[in-house]
Amino acid sequence: MDKLLVRGGRALKGHVEISGSKNAILPIMAASLMCSGEVILSGVPDLEDINVMSEALTILGAVVKREGDILVIDGSSVNNCELPECVSRRMRASNLVMGALLGRFKQARVAYPGGCAIGSRPMDLHIKGFKSMGYEITEEHGLMAGRAVSIAGKETMLDVPSVGATENIMMAASMTPGTTIIRNAAREPEIVDLQNFLNRMGARIKGAGLDAIRIEGVDRLGRVEHTVIPDRIEAGTFMVAAAITRGDIWIENVVTEHLQPVIAKLGEIGVEVLPWGGGIRVVGNPYYHPTDVKTMPYPGFPTDMQAQMMTLLSTVDGTSVVVETIFENRYMHVPELRRMGADIKVEGRVAIIKGNQRWEGACVEASDLRAGAALILAGLYANGETQIFQLEHIDRGYERIHEKLKNIGADIERMSVS
Ligand code: UD1
Repeated sequence: MDKLLVRGGRALKGHVEISGSKNAILPIMAASLMCSGEVILSGVPDLEDINVMSEALTILGAVVKREGDILVIDGSSVNNCELPECVSRRMRASNLVMGALLGRFKQARVAYPGGCAIGSRPMDLHIKGFKSMGYEITEEHGLMAGRAVSIAGKETMLDVPSVGATENIMMAASMTPGTTIIRNAAREPEIVDLQNFLNRMGARIKGAGLDAIRIEGVDRLGRVEHTVIPDRIEAGTFMVAAAITRGDIWIENVVTEHLQPVIAKLGEIGVEVLPWGGGIRVVGNPYYHPTDVKTMPYPGFPTDMQAQMMTLLSTVDGTSVVVETIFENRYMHVPELRRMGADIKVEGRVAIIKGNQRWEGACVEASDLRAGAALILAGLYANGETQIFQLEHIDRGYERIHEKLKNIGADIERMSVS
């Protein structure tokens, strides 16, 4: 077991390169199960979630090989349509294999991933989409079992624009005869990347990035090479790192458009954000303004950046208000931030922040991935030493974050807990 030791107070300076997007690569890996040939993916980050998805694909019979940031997945040998609980419990996104298996093999049995720290995270919308296409879905002993009964593309209206449901339905529909239309679809850039990937394999999908996606089913999906989009949440986290330390950093390998909601909020606070070429320069200022943040589906402010932005706002004099509309329990970082000096009052989904600059390092625990990122940012700001435990959450989604931060001047070390 490891911990991070951060000594705060240093302004970050230099260049940092953003890795491929975790949330784009996970559905793409699941979709690789539908390919009867080889899938070659570039820009794949070295993350625990990717390892878990690789394990899931291997259990289903795919051959997965990794060399550096290249992942090769051969789905021609897939011979098992059941994903056991021991894997699905370890990562919520493992449920994305359901749509791919239904699409290609017309049957699937996937153990429920269960809830997680940030909310209950039901799958009713995924199931609604599968059922509307004619798949019979039954739930038995914690397993979700699906099989084709009388399948044909149909229209599905999502009650909320769920990212996972949109992806799962897109995958199943890609190999279901007829035309499927997903209305009120999620519009996240990761959905567009999945569409591009599937279309390169031979799928016929239009509309990703808009609120209606049209999918015409095909019989076969073939060999493909694909480079994954940059991770907008990792980029956003480094942008806040530059802001909170009053640093000056260049962030490379980003798509500026994907970061617009974060760029706009940092601008309101008084951080200088200068997009240029394929990168963004972020320059901190001595004085910032408080502001309000409400998380929304893309292109609104991302829930995956809420904890990081709340940390920055907690260091800004004045009152800021954060409203979390996506997940019901995504304020687990608040008690840990309070230990370091934050003054945050939570009432339901609303957090009222009275910013102050008197922060001291403390021993804190990461309760989930983005909460962990928030604690690192807090450690970079606070006086003295911060020790962060439960790094397994951070390892799920940030590739060697301590090394990247060290390279731009942070005083941070990773060490084993004796
Ligand atoms: C994905 C991201 C996660 C991000 C989230 C929201 C991946 C691997 N993970 O998660 O990092 O925080 O999008 O941007 O891409 N819901 C239902 N019924 C369903 C499905 C979802 O009610 O069947 C609700 C959820 O409880 C939540 C909201 O919809 O309140 C959004 O969840 P969703 O977009 O599905 O999140 P994930 O795909 O799980």
